[in-house]
Amino acid sequence: MCGIVGYLGNEPVYEKVIKGLSRLEYRGYDSAGMAYIEDGELVVKKCKGKVVDLENVVGSVKPLSHIGIGHTRWATHGVPNDVNAHPHCSGDGSIALIHNGIIENYASIKQELMNRGHVFLSDTDTEVLVHLIEDVRNAEKVSLFEAVRLALSEVHGAYAIVVLDKSNADQLIVAKKSSPLVIGIGAQDDFYIASDATPIIEYTKNVVYLNDEEVARVDRKTGLTIVNIDNQSQTPYIQALELKLEAIEKGGYDSFMLKEIHEQPRSIEDSIRGRVNLKTGLIKMSGIDEHEERWKTAPRILIVACGTSWHAGLVAEYLFEDFARIPVEVEYASEFRYRNPIIYPTDIVIAISQSGETADTLAAIELAKERGALIFGVCNVVGSSISRATHCGAYTHAGPEIGVASTKAFTAQVVVLYQIALSVAQKRGVISNERTTRLMAELGSLPLKVEQVLKTNAITEAIAEIYQHCSNALYLGRGYSFPVALEGALKLKEISYIHAEGYPAAEMKHGPIALIDENMPVIVIATEGASYEKVVSNIQEVKARKGQIIAIVTEGDKTVKGMADHVIEIPRTDDSLVPIVSVIPLQLFSYHVAIMRGCNVDQPRNLAKSVTVE
Ligand code: F6R
Repeated sequence: MCGIVGYLGNEPVYEKVIKGLSRLEYRGYDSAGMAYIEDGELVVKKCKGKVVDLENVVGSVKPLSHIGIGHTRWATHGVPNDVNAHPHCSGDGSIALIHNGIIENYASIKQELMNRGHVFLSDTDTEVLVHLIEDVRNAEKVSLFEAVRLALSEVHGAYAIVVLDKSNADQLIVAKKSSPLVIGIGAQDDFYIASDATPIIEYTKNVVYLNDEEVARVDRKTGLTIVNIDNQSQTPYIQALELKLEAIEKGGYDSFMLKEIHEQPRSIEDSIRGRVNLKTGLIKMSGIDEHEERWKTAPRILIVACGTSWHAGLVAEYLFEDFARIPVEVEYASEFRYRNPIIYPTDIVIAISQSGETADTLAAIELAKERGALIFGVCNVVGSSISRATHCGAYTHAGPEIGVASTKAFTAQVVVLYQIALSVAQKRGVISNERTTRLMAELGSLPLKVEQVLKTNAITEAIAEIYQHCSNALYLGRGYSFPVALEGALKLKEISYIHAEGYPAAEMKHGPIALIDENMPVIVIATEGASYEKVVSNIQEVKARKGQIIAIVTEGDKTVKGMADHVIEIPRTDDSLVPIVSVIPLQLFSYHVAIMRGCNVDQPRNLAKSVTVE
């Protein structure tokens, strides 16, 4: 979390930093700040709040400096306020630093530095780092580049940092470990630094992704120099960005979330294209084909993920068990890593992550790797830390997801996991050709079906109008629809701040039924399929207690229609594909409720898109 940007080049820095921070604001929006050099002086502007508040702090006279750094914060150490906002400065005011990550041993370093006379202004771990760099530089009489390297060899934790020194307006020092950082190289010795490529794409396509424990110097005279933490020189590997600028803009929608919900027909299609061949009846995924033997013989699959990605993992559990007959365990990455889990070298671990930067998922991957398992990544962000840490994988082609609440990433993840499960089932010879062909054809029809569901938007909006003031909601589903119930509840709570719970429909009678009264909306996924009759009974149990039923039903349904207060019809599809279609009205419902309550759907309170801390 936290977004960092830096610029060094031929043009004024201000606009580049502000624009870059706005693009990275999804990573955190508790405070914003920037530092630049003007007339030989280091100027720092920062405040609690968003990038727009920072613009007000800077005022109408914009800095003309050609070098600067900027930060948008998701608070970890210290409350969001002006003092804790980044950049932080050294005691003598000569060095400014921005940081994304957590310095775990900051307390002991801080104590040592205080013993040596350093005075701290903020509660942050970041301020300790800049004082440490100052301390090392003064004690060792070394360059800033070297001081940063030496200081970082003393710290534990995660960091992506950019350091600016007022005595050198031609140079920035950059370093990374376990937090993302990319350097863009422009045409005329212009350098762009950012947490991801979105602030850079407008200016250059040539980028270098720093590896962990690398320290880089960008210098207008000497260009880019990289060393590792042991001071060995590293050759920069320049890659071409494939990201398109339109993909990271709102394109006429009021919010990124609404745009991303409506992009799903395309993102689903993109996640299928080139993989499913209806003529041959085969699915082509290189991460599976290259490790065919492992997939054929693995006795078990472990899935690690967080949040919405974990919900996609739950759908995958049903898919793998149903199609490929492999036992699956789905784990919250944060729990998995801290409980000495049993991992066999024959296991396959699937790590699911939209951002590819989630710290808990990354740590779970490292643990499973140490134990010899094959790690398969399902990531959306190309070149992200998780995609690089895994042995193989398959990208979801959802395109950049900027709204903090995950929508199109979820459906793309399920689509990709679906193809993996089918492909593995084929390789193991446990699924008939007839079933595979039918499911592949159904999968191919999803973009049109999702398009059709999006047309129910007005109905969903009208239902949202009725329930916008509720304070609790229950989501129920069975089988493949249980993870969708969890996902629907998560969407509602994270963007509208309404308490919501997802439950397997049959579990309701073991406790949650006590909550039901005439004020409780109960959203039920009641599509035709294996558990339809049972869900109908669950609906009756809710109605008997005067609960308000909003049902997602298969088009043409009459039974549920006769008992529910509201219904949203979705096209008929195979049970195993219902999650991809039925989640759409739930996303729209949360969106409308949140908008009606005046909430910021793209940047819900306390959240950040990319959770790079434990
Ligand atoms: C919910 C949401 C989060 C993420 C979770 C994992 O809408 O966005 O719950 O799903 O933080 O993030 P990734 O998928 O980037 O690892």
